[in-house]
Amino acid sequence: MEFDLIVRNGIIVNPTDRIVGQDVGIKDGVILCIGSNLQSANPANTRILDCEGAFITPGGIDTHVHLEQWNTPTGDTWVTGTRSAICGGTTTVVAFASQNREHDTVLPIVEEYGALAQGRSYCDYAYHLILTNPTKKIIEEELPILVKEKGITSVKLYMTYDPLKLADRQILDIMVATRKLGVTTMVHAENHDMIAFIIETLLERGMTEPYHHAVSRPSIAEAEATFRAISMAELMDTPILLVHISSQNSARTIRDAQTRLLPIYAETCPQYLWLLSDRLKGDNFEGAKAVCSPPPRDSAEDTDAIWRGIANGTFTTFSSDHAATKFYTEGGKRLGIIDGKPLFTKIPNGLPGLETRLPLLFKGVEEGRITIHDFVRVACSNPAKLYGLSRKGAILPGKDADLCIWYPDGKMEPFQLDNSMLHHDIDYTPYEGMTFKNWPRYTLLRGQVVWDRDNKGLVGNVGDGKYNKRTASTLPGPRSVFVNEWRPPM
Ligand code: URP
Ligand code: ZN
Ligand code: ZN
Ligand code: ZN
Repeated sequence: MEFDLIVRNGIIVNPTDRIVGQDVGIKDGVILCIGSNLQSANPANTRILDCEGAFITPGGIDTHVHLEQWNTPTGDTWVTGTRSAICGGTTTVVAFASQNREHDTVLPIVEEYGALAQGRSYCDYAYHLILTNPTKKIIEEELPILVKEKGITSVKLYMTYDPLKLADRQILDIMVATRKLGVTTMVHAENHDMIAFIIETLLERGMTEPYHHAVSRPSIAEAEATFRAISMAELMDTPILLVHISSQNSARTIRDAQTRLLPIYAETCPQYLWLLSDRLKGDNFEGAKAVCSPPPRDSAEDTDAIWRGIANGTFTTFSSDHAATKFYTEGGKRLGIIDGKPLFTKIPNGLPGLETRLPLLFKGVEEGRITIHDFVRVACSNPAKLYGLSRKGAILPGKDADLCIWYPDGKMEPFQLDNSMLHHDIDYTPYEGMTFKNWPRYTLLRGQVVWDRDNKGLVGNVGDGKYNKRTASTLPGPRSVFVNEWRPPM
């Protein structure tokens, strides 16, 4: 056999198995075979990569990324965001194309968003569609076209944020359509009115610091909306994924639904493993650097529960929710300071996280909180299955040769993270100063080394990334089990 690349001497990790003492043979961007002591028929044209005994995981898949999205803070562009992705071991991102309320058709929207990424991505990519005005025409006529012709097989729905939020009735209407089409339905679950009420009174009381953002969105607001979303999904027998789950409260509700075998999936993010709400405090408006929604929670009870939820399978996927804005904008201005005074409602929600996502999860492997298989399951394999990225997410013959190769134990000099080491276009990281004992050493996108930390660093090129047309989810779907004799429209 001829190979373009043979990856030797690594521990190949898939969600359930690890393969030791075998090589990965790659040809034309695809994994051709896994076997012992592979030899190429054209050795002069075959590159050999020695992993020196380290883990080889599938390239990371980050299925919650905001880039150049009109209604969400996105300081990073497709160029800078995906550049940082590959330097952190991520080879595929799924970003959002968003309908705005005034759009009565979504077909041109996905074209416009598609054009933003075309030729400007370092990694492979796809889009989810955010629905903010789900007319009958859009959900009955346009969604099927998007699924069939564009391979857009997921939508995101919001239960909060004034410009985005849907009423429960609208969510139910969408669930009928997504059930029929096999479209993965992502839900941002927070109780809008609870939050709006708290914000109104906080502002009246002059409590406007960044920290009050966390006060305004208590975990009970997430848990209530999570239960409501699950109840709507159960009524309609529609699988859903609850995005960016932050609290023990919500994780329990999700676990309970899963134990009843409902097709309820959940996502969590690095910020809910590593940050607490006290990070929203601090002098000089520093707390603004940890403002995201839902906010980091108050105690390690929550972060511990989120780690356990990754280990016990409550969490299906682990994403960055990269939604980054510079701390200092033009002219040294800081968003969220109005007339010299902080106003948390004006701080853009969201954190940078594309590049640090995998290393922050890998720390949990080092600390014994999760296994390397849990790591692969939530960061690579399940995202591929849930969102129909059929070429991605596992190290198996026929899959794209997207790989992340780590350092063998003791090989990498531990370091303290400094924002200047990262490749995004954001002037801070919430993980500044954290110590890392491992980091992606090589990232391979379809058989090409695009990140080589010890040599040239970034070696991929803008435009390397290709659009992925997706299929339906391959995780368990509707069960045809209903709450009573009533049936949703089929
Ligand atoms: O704070 C966040 N997460 N901003 C991004 C938008 C969202 O809801 O995911
Ligand atoms: Zn409102
Ligand atoms: Zn959200
Ligand atoms: Zn988000």
